[in-house]
Amino acid sequence: MISTSELDIAAKYIKEGKLVAFPTETVYGLGANALNPLAVAKIFELKERPSFDPLIVHIASIDDLYLLTENTDGNVIRLAEKFWPGPLTIVLPKSKLVPDIVTSGLNTVGIRMPDNDIALKLIRAANCPIAAPSANKFGQLSPVSAEHVKKQLSNVDYVLDGGNTSVGIESTIVSIEGNVCTLLRPGVITIADIENALPDTFIYSSEKPEKLIAPGLLKSHYSPVKPLYILDKQVSHFPESSGFIVHEKKDFIPKESRIVYTSQTFNHLEIAANLFSALHAMEDDEHIKQIFIEPVPEVGLGIAIMDRIKKAAYKYQQNN
Ligand code: TXA
Ligand code: MG
Repeated sequence: MISTSELDIAAKYIKEGKLVAFPTETVYGLGANALNPLAVAKIFELKERPSFDPLIVHIASIDDLYLLTENTDGNVIRLAEKFWPGPLTIVLPKSKLVPDIVTSGLNTVGIRMPDNDIALKLIRAANCPIAAPSANKFGQLSPVSAEHVKKQLSNVDYVLDGGNTSVGIESTIVSIEGNVCTLLRPGVITIADIENALPDTFIYSSEKPEKLIAPGLLKSHYSPVKPLYILDKQVSHFPESSGFIVHEKKDFIPKESRIVYTSQTFNHLEIAANLFSALHAMEDDEHIKQIFIEPVPEVGLGIAIMDRIKKAAYKYQQNN
């Protein structure tokens, strides 16, 4: 667990305009004072993130919404009260207080309240909203432990170690305008969950993400630094030094292979929670030259899991 003095140091660093990596329930974030443009600029520099990719602002109380956005109508509050703290980011028109660098010049800002005690304590102690993307180099695997953060961002000012994250994949992102709610990134909170919370709202989930202005929807993202292929069960011969990520006991995989299980029973919550750790483990294993990962059916939470798997594998697929 985190000591009070560690939290104090981290909060002091945020106040001084430095960067602190911290756990959330989804993945680790690389945080800076969201209201300090120079501090936020350091995030883009350290992550090697293109300046067109906006950041999510993390808050510790629904009241902070009123500082950051002009839209706090009924639907917004309904979503916030139902899902916060939790893995839902809401994209809303930004207030003047939010620096342009946070939103990459967009007039909207993504906001969420993370469901993680350390994150909430940090935001409160720093006494400011915290802008934070996932704490990885741009395009690489998201970190779900402090070790994953240090592997990619060894020169970050401070890392709060809260152990492994519980959800394991990034938050669901929706934008909301009047009674139209658009899913920008799938996550553990599904369209069905949002429909239940907003029965009178039209929910739009685009199948054409390239049309949207959320670069997290780039086709290639979250990639390991070695080839990753989606496992085709018809194939029975695999190249030497292959690693396999599967979600239940399997008998068709060569006996001597390295196998990482995300779950023993194809449990979607376990698969999501262990997905990035499995990819990191394969990335770190020097005996593995290529990784094969089992797909999951694209229903419910399976949509968010396959979204991450397809993006991680995208640049290694044929015909692209
Ligand atoms: O679970 C999460 O959301 C984690 C933790 C740290 O909170 N954060 C995260 O941040 O995944 P990041 O930067 O890796 O992904 C945020 C995505 C980006 O793809 C960005 O393009 C999109 O959110 N985004 C942020 N603000 C936006 C806006 N105003 N409009 C559209 N998309 C936005
Ligand atoms: Mg990210």
